[in-house]
Amino acid sequence: MSMFKVDITRPDGFTYTIREFRLEDLERVIWINRTCLPENYPAYFFIEHHRSFPKAFLVAEVGGEVMGYIMCRVELGFSFFKKATLVRKGHVISLAVRPEVRRRGIATHLMMYAMKHMKEYYGAKEYYLEVRVSNTPAISLYKKLGFQIINVIKGYYHDGEDAYLMAKPAEE
Ligand code: ACO
Ligand code: ZN
Repeated sequence: MSMFKVDITRPDGFTYTIREFRLEDLERVIWINRTCLPENYPAYFFIEHHRSFPKAFLVAEVGGEVMGYIMCRVELGFSFFKKATLVRKGHVISLAVRPEVRRRGIATHLMMYAMKHMKEYYGAKEYYLEVRVSNTPAISLYKKLGFQIINVIKGYYHDGEDAYLMAKPAEE
């Protein structure tokens, strides 16, 4: 199967590439994860997601450097939208963009392509994620992409903070 790669140029000339994660990106992605998020994972966790859902683990490159990533998996479970219905759900596990290149649409594009691939390659009918209730930037991003808050998960994070569970149906 060919490797996904797309180049995006903004009207202001800022250019970046969204492409599939490769194992050689591992150290850099782990570094981005550790510098951008309090939820950190061992290397095998990234490797396992790449092995299982290669089309839903993407990175963003700016000037030849990986500056952001999205890692997802697809799970079978009860629908958030259709009562008592089992569906494949695309779960966004981790998303981060380095501060130097934020607010340029990189996370939006990582999300859009990851969702497209979860639907087309792995049969996802809806998407979901957890996000800290204090994480206004991420919550704004997800709302803009059509996610809605389904419920609050009390004490979801290690430090006791609550999570919003947010979800969105896949487009037909
Ligand atoms: N304040 C308010 N709204 C924001 C902000 C912000 N700081 N950042 C993004 N948004 C909203 C805006 O509506 C924005 O559109 P606009 O710039 O036209 O106003 C929209 O989201 C799209 O923003 P992008 O440029 O696509 O997002 P960016 O590339 O900057 O990345 C991200 C957003 C991933 C949340 C980044 O800030 C980040 O890495 N934060 C730290 C890590 C994190 O919180 N990750 C998500 C955790 S939840 C999870 O992983 C499932
Ligand atoms: Zn999760």
